[in-house]
Amino acid sequence: MPENTSILDGPRPLPFVGNLPEFARDQKTHRVLERWADEYGLTYRFRLGRQEVVATADPAHVDVLLRRRPDDFRRAVRSSTIIDEIVPRGVFTAEGDRWRRLRKVATQSLNAAYLRQYFTTITMVTERLLRQWEAAAGSGARVDVLDLMMRYTLDVTVGLAMGHDLNALESTGDGLHTRVKQLFPAISRRINAALPYWRYAKLPQDRRLDATVREIEALVGERFAAARVRVAAGDPPSNFLEALVRPLENEPEITDEEVFGNVLAMLLGGEDTTSSTAAWALHYLAENPDIHAKVRAEADEVLGEQRLPGDPGTVGRLKYAEAVVNEVLRFQPVAPFLLLEPTSDVTLTGRDGSELFAPKGLPIFVLMSYGARRDTERFGDPDVFRPERWLEGKLPPEALPFAPFGAGPRYCPGRNLALIEAAMVTSVLGREFDFEPDHSAGAVVERMEFTTFPTNLNLRVRTRAATATR
Ligand code: HEM
Repeated sequence: MPENTSILDGPRPLPFVGNLPEFARDQKTHRVLERWADEYGLTYRFRLGRQEVVATADPAHVDVLLRRRPDDFRRAVRSSTIIDEIVPRGVFTAEGDRWRRLRKVATQSLNAAYLRQYFTTITMVTERLLRQWEAAAGSGARVDVLDLMMRYTLDVTVGLAMGHDLNALESTGDGLHTRVKQLFPAISRRINAALPYWRYAKLPQDRRLDATVREIEALVGERFAAARVRVAAGDPPSNFLEALVRPLENEPEITDEEVFGNVLAMLLGGEDTTSSTAAWALHYLAENPDIHAKVRAEADEVLGEQRLPGDPGTVGRLKYAEAVVNEVLRFQPVAPFLLLEPTSDVTLTGRDGSELFAPKGLPIFVLMSYGARRDTERFGDPDVFRPERWLEGKLPPEALPFAPFGAGPRYCPGRNLALIEAAMVTSVLGREFDFEPDHSAGAVVERMEFTTFPTNLNLRVRTRAATATR
């Protein structure tokens, strides 16, 4: 007979608010969830307000929850509804047959064949990034690493998604790049809000948010019209929007709302996640000169006279840079958990064989990367940042308990693109510049606003040649 969730241990809830105060404190939700798993076991329960929720890092549960989608589990209704209220419904929040259709579109346009075409955009934006760092090295200015990485991934994603050169990297002052940054914090603020006030009265911040979404919508509409013209003229698709013009085999034509929803899903899925990963990678190079030296030696060997990799295959040969990125994803996963719920009553079997009854609609926090920081057998010295562990042939990449891109049918379709961007940035910047951590604004601290990211990540940079001649 499966046990009810009432047998689970968990932190003691306060009246009315439950465990919300501790959960939402310090923008470190993921660390609170991990600490509770340390204290109360791999599967535990707690309360957010009056809502009973469960969290699990049990690999057997995590595996079933991630794989049996969309039929048996879905993204939690509450968070999906909040996201859908902000941006139109895209692949991330879609469920059932609608998801199946949008997913096909998303994976097709992000597949390896298109990535080869997209590579020119990636290298063009990387050239621009190098120029920014050269300027900082010349002037001695402090580099706000996360800000530059966000501009970089935004330029890449907008370029790939819409064939539009936003040039956030070289823009000064306010622009779409500053406004897009509001999207994740806004989603996070609303998910953690005690009351859905915005459904009754909008604050200035909500109106600004609506205006940003309308601005992106207008840009997508304009670019989609241009995409239709190009494709009608017989040109092969060169960006995500152009790939969307032709309907998929046996599928109806995609609607304008779906086009917009999927482009926004790419922007949201691709920007903060990849920028945070790349920023952390540069942080670990700055903190670990021996690791930095190895990245540089590899880049010298693989790239030779070339400043940038000429094709995705060359990025694939930057194995050490990729190992640094994998270690970042283990150490500082940008999406450390997902919030799912059963679509009907279900019994889950844990790795110890125990059975747990989970009723339809029970919110379940799925901790996908907890084990990778706790499993001493597979990840010896898990608290040490050691990229070499990924090159020793002992770790199956991305098998539980390490699933930074999720798993199963909803696995991140942008993984390859993200790895190319992050490994490229780590390798080419690591090769050309020396880094010195700048803690004048405070220590580097991680935060979580829907995804995790570093704050106060500042560096002083010098060109390698300048250092060598000193
Ligand atoms: C380091 C970078 C990235 C990380 C760690 C990451 C992680 C994730 C995770 C954990 C999920 C949820 C998977 C699941 O439900 O099982 C996801 C979904 C998704 N990601 Fe990524 N992602 C990254 C980069 C990207 C990029 C570059 C794009 C596109 C340009 C992208 C687009 C998406 C989309 C569209 C989904 C929704 C898939 C679905 O619901 O079927 N991601 N990502």
